[in-house]
Amino acid sequence: MGFFDTLGVKCVNELAIREKRVLLRTDFNFPVDENGNIADFTRMDKAIPTIKHILEHNARLIIASHFGRPESEKDIQYTLEPFAARLAEILEQDIYFFEDCVGMGAMQMVRDLKPGQILVLENLRFNPDEKKGTSAFARELAKMCDVYINDAFCVCHRKDTSIALLPRFVDTKGVSFSVKQEIDELSKFLGLEHGSGMCIMLGGSNTTDKIGLIRPMLDMADKIIIGGPLAYTFMAAQGMSVGATPVDEDKIPLAKEILKSAKVRKVEIVLPIDHVVAETVNSTEPAGCKADSFPEGMTAFDIGPETVKLFAQKIAECKHLFWCGPLGVYEKPQFSIGSLRLAEQVSKLPIYKAAGGGDTDEMLRRAGFADKFDHVFTGGMAALEFLKNGGMIPGLEALKD
Ligand code: 3PG
Repeated sequence: MGFFDTLGVKCVNELAIREKRVLLRTDFNFPVDENGNIADFTRMDKAIPTIKHILEHNARLIIASHFGRPESEKDIQYTLEPFAARLAEILEQDIYFFEDCVGMGAMQMVRDLKPGQILVLENLRFNPDEKKGTSAFARELAKMCDVYINDAFCVCHRKDTSIALLPRFVDTKGVSFSVKQEIDELSKFLGLEHGSGMCIMLGGSNTTDKIGLIRPMLDMADKIIIGGPLAYTFMAAQGMSVGATPVDEDKIPLAKEILKSAKVRKVEIVLPIDHVVAETVNSTEPAGCKADSFPEGMTAFDIGPETVKLFAQKIAECKHLFWCGPLGVYEKPQFSIGSLRLAEQVSKLPIYKAAGGGDTDEMLRRAGFADKFDHVFTGGMAALEFLKNGGMIPGLEALKD
């Protein structure tokens, strides 16, 4: 019996879905490149086996997702319409799209759906109630379906209405094949304690959320490697100069506390020892510097070559790696070198290697290293929250019988 079987959550292939109205909550929150174009559609590719399974059962498929963090109710740059068109091309069938996710129009579209047909609803986050966890919105969505399937592991750590509340109003519910796979892979890390050779490497943006996760990780990890913007808050907490690199001042006391606690528990916190710095992120001629001679007025946008060596050596001393977030501004070629060199070195190590998060996933795929990792999770923060809470995250809790 695997961890998934103990959760009390079903997978789509265990549910009666034939000819039913199935709402598939996908995560079409694709990574976007510096020109605003979608950089990677892996999350859609991973949804395809579940979509095909649903269609093979002659169900009526309703797809709902969020994309980005729209600030107004109809921030058209975040419309899902082009994604519906892409899905239609992949599946070679017509797909209906509706310009809202609830309301009479959406309901009518659902009523008109025939078995085997697909309707994509507009971005859930165009409705402010998606982020508020409101029952009225959850009930509106629930009226449209008989079955709810969660294919959005990346957002399962959030309490968004369609994730944490909507399933409570639907009797038949479960996860997609790809979410089950994420849970199966993550469960390999559960139960690892300090002393089992676990290394967690954190980079990427979203530093406020990530720093909050470090303290509980001290119980399971032997080493925590910190790169990317979060590293500079830790360097500032140690009284080191970071030039003009932004630091999360409010989190300095927490960083100090984590450093102290890590020392007591004998968890090694590893920080960069050299950097790639420039005046601005658009500078094409960056310079290198050591951590103890950080130049005034310059900002760090990548880790330097000595740091790559150090991080690779520390990871090689471990048995398991979980990597969440690039270690520099990897969208800019001049600041992607540290992450890519490290990815290359890590990919050769004979340890269990997992990485997570939309940007990390895209970076590893683009550089051709993704298949050298044992697993690449679509969601980084969701994976870390899952590990922190022993698998109890809002999106999965809401699916329990
Ligand atoms: C992700 O891409 O990590 C998920 O879709 C969650 O997105 P969010 O951080 O905007 O909630």
